[in-house]
Amino acid sequence: MSTFKLGLYLLLFVFTHHLLPSQVAAACREKKQKDLLHDINTYRKVLNLPIFKKSDKPSCLANKIANDLEDKHCEDYFHYYPLPGSNPKIPNFQKSVEKCKISINTTKDGVIMPVCVPKLDPDNLFSNYTKSNRYIKYLKNSKYVIAGVGSDSDNEWMVLIISTNTTSGDFSSATSLLGEAMKGHWVLMTTFLSVLVLLFS
Ligand SMILES: *[C@@H]1O[C@H](CO)[C@@H](O)[C@H](O)[C@H]1NC(C)=O
Ligand SMILES: *[C@@H]1O[C@H](CO)[C@@H](O)[C@H](O)[C@H]1NC(C)=O
Ligand SMILES: *[C@@H]1O[C@H](CO)[C@@H](O)[C@H](O)[C@H]1NC(C)=O
Repeated sequence: MSTFKLGLYLLLFVFTHHLLPSQVAAACREKKQKDLLHDINTYRKVLNLPIFKKSDKPSCLANKIANDLEDKHCEDYFHYYPLPGSNPKIPNFQKSVEKCKISINTTKDGVIMPVCVPKLDPDNLFSNYTKSNRYIKYLKNSKYVIAGVGSDSDNEWMVLIISTNTTSGDFSSATSLLGEAMKGHWVLMTTFLSVLVLLFS
């Protein structure tokens, strides 16, 4: 065994033995999400459309929605018909938007596309998006250029969100919201420090 290989082996050993099962599961979920986006972007390239750029906030929202769908039955997936803009059928939509610190006004162009595929099998997943009339008109539209992707921990629900990169669709946070969040942190921090001082004085 060459020194290089040995080094690699040791590195891998250390790495695998220090990872928690939950971290491994999370890495697996992320890989499935990445692979789906990669497949869909390959499809977009073939059609000469701009690829979807993965964005953090819609991905946060997609993960929250997928987790909320986790205990729904696969057959219920027909309830969550994609509609650009606010989506009253999606459980806890408003709440999840707030949790991800997204200004609701910047989600108007977003199209939320959940699918339920056992074990998130890559081929079934891809064909669920590209071979059904449900989503294809959105995936073939050049105005959508950003994407978020998320899935549940049972590996059944995948949520793809696509949107425009304009102020009505970029899933950004309002500056005022950010300001409020910062203020909240300061209050919490000061309280925490005060308690510490009280405990140890
Ligand atoms: C969002 O849109 C509503 C109604 O159009 C408006 O009243 C509100 O000020 C907007 N909020 C932000 C943060 O831009
Ligand atoms: C979507 O996935 C389900 C579950 O794997 C599969 O039975 C169905 O045929 C797929 N639909 C399409 C259009 O690919
Ligand atoms: C939005 O996306 C289009 C197409 O990819 C790009 O040309 C444009 O520069 C982007 N605008 C912003 C504000 O990112």
